[in-house]
Amino acid sequence: MAVLKNKKVTKAIFPVAGLGTRFLPATKSVPKEIMTLVDRPLIQYAIDEARAAGIKEFIFVTSRGKGALEDYFDHAPQLEASLRKSGKTELLETLKSTNMESGAIAYIRQHRAMGLGHAVWCARRLIANEPFAVMLPDDVIAADKPCLQQMVEAYEETGGSLVAAMEVPKSQAPNYGILDVGDSDGQLVKVKGMVEKPSVEDAPSNLAVIGRYIITPSVLQTLNRQKSGSGGEIQLTDAIAAEVESEAGVHALKFNGQRFDCGSKAGFLQATVSFALARDELQDEFAAYLRDISPMIRAAE
Ligand code: G1P
Repeated sequence: MAVLKNKKVTKAIFPVAGLGTRFLPATKSVPKEIMTLVDRPLIQYAIDEARAAGIKEFIFVTSRGKGALEDYFDHAPQLEASLRKSGKTELLETLKSTNMESGAIAYIRQHRAMGLGHAVWCARRLIANEPFAVMLPDDVIAADKPCLQQMVEAYEETGGSLVAAMEVPKSQAPNYGILDVGDSDGQLVKVKGMVEKPSVEDAPSNLAVIGRYIITPSVLQTLNRQKSGSGGEIQLTDAIAAEVESEAGVHALKFNGQRFDCGSKAGFLQATVSFALARDELQDEFAAYLRDISPMIRAAE
């Protein structure tokens, strides 16, 4: 594995085939990744984070009904011409982050919902013998240094596969991939095992995998042979776990930053409030509103 150690991570897979049933009826016609925190879709936060980490190629694993994602990352000549004509240069600037260099983005269909491991495997022909990132856009992470960039830096030291990790209350173990941990060096932890969505009793720790991964290509070979695991789905967690005994092993990075679970309504609302408060043009008005309604919140308790 030492050969791979210094290979740069330039590709990222975005599994975006999920139905987003937790946000129905909105997600009946809008992909959940297009839902906005303030005015930017969830997917935009993930793409910005990927770009900051040096990712140059973006692979979306999609499904039926996700066409809005393709349009979002397309150029919009009419819209751009009209903004230019009316001198709206700031808005034009805002649109720049939605533009992709031709050929930098690819869409692959996951024809059947068979799990995260299967979604990643669907993109196998676009990955050569190189490490790659996987980013779950539901997990939005606010951080001074973007989470994937922290991981790329850690990966340069570790090689092998690397997952983002965060401590969660043990009662939440059944919602996550949970790590069996070995030695740690600061925020970097050696992984001895991984189990997808264990019961509270079976959870080996309270350290959970969060939706950012750097994956060594041998995991794709494991996925070739992978049988279904937790929930009857092909789990990425299981395929990465098969690498713990490899030379480079598997590591977890306890990243710096605040993670929002935008796959849940409560997490999505928390992210909306936090990102709104972080915006210069909204801060004063929005903070004043929150102060105004706080007695109401206390009264309701
Ligand atoms: C996925 C992974 C799980 C991980 C989680 C993080 O689960 O399978 O290991 O802990 O993302 O958000 P999902 O939330 O898609 O069910």
